[in-house]
Amino acid sequence: MAIIAVGGRKGGVGKSTIVGNLAAEFAAMGRSVIVLDADPQHSLAAWAAQGDGMLSRCVEKVKGANAEALRAKARSAEKAADVVLIDTPPGMPETAYQAALVADLFLLPCGPSPLDLFSLKEALSLALKARAERRSKRPRIRFVPSKVLMNTNLGRGLSSSLEEMGKKVLPPIGQRIVVAEAVLSGLTVCEYAPNSVSRMEFKNLAKAVHEIIKR
Ligand SMILES: Nc1ncnc2c1ncn2[C@@H]1O[C@H](COP(=O)(O)OP(=O)(O)O)[C@@H](O)[C@H]1O
Ligand SMILES: [Mg+2]
Repeated sequence: MAIIAVGGRKGGVGKSTIVGNLAAEFAAMGRSVIVLDADPQHSLAAWAAQGDGMLSRCVEKVKGANAEALRAKARSAEKAADVVLIDTPPGMPETAYQAALVADLFLLPCGPSPLDLFSLKEALSLALKARAERRSKRPRIRFVPSKVLMNTNLGRGLSSSLEEMGKKVLPPIGQRIVVAEAVLSGLTVCEYAPNSVSRMEFKNLAKAVHEIIKR
């Protein structure tokens, strides 16, 4: 059905967290999912290996920074699953660029700090460059407010700051302790705390993403 890549120049903004938890939400919607872990640090594979949750059954490591290998893997995964999610490393624009060349949707998570916003511009231009090379409206590009402290001014202002950058903004993900706790158990929030506020946030994000990719 779709290839969704998550990118961004900065580490620590929640890319891998969003990939893992979106994978679980799509599985909960009855979709088959493959997660391609294209970050040489393999955070997602490490998360999956902490337990025997859904990630342990759908995460595949993409080894090395070989652009052709990533694209070939993404295309074959697309034949085998409804949704393919690609996690890309920070600071390695080539991998994120290759992912943007195959993705239908490119998500750019951004944390609440102004420094996160600054580095987002580069990531946005990378995604736009991929679109120009493809001579296509693909990948669609969306911002995701991530690790938001909902009860702070910075947190509340993030979505509107992102809108000013000219791309649509998806429902925000709050900074919440269950997100990290779930990782410790090798689980996603969907599995670890299915009735939590955090779960609702990932579910809302997944619904919004689903609306985009089914078009
Ligand atoms: N919504 C969140 N709430 C709490 N902690 C989070 C959240 N998102 C990410 N984290 C934590 O922040 C750190 C960086 O997240 P990660 O997904 O690895 O970022 P990236 O992949 O962009 O480098 C991790 O320790 C992760 O558990
Ligand atoms: Mg990561």
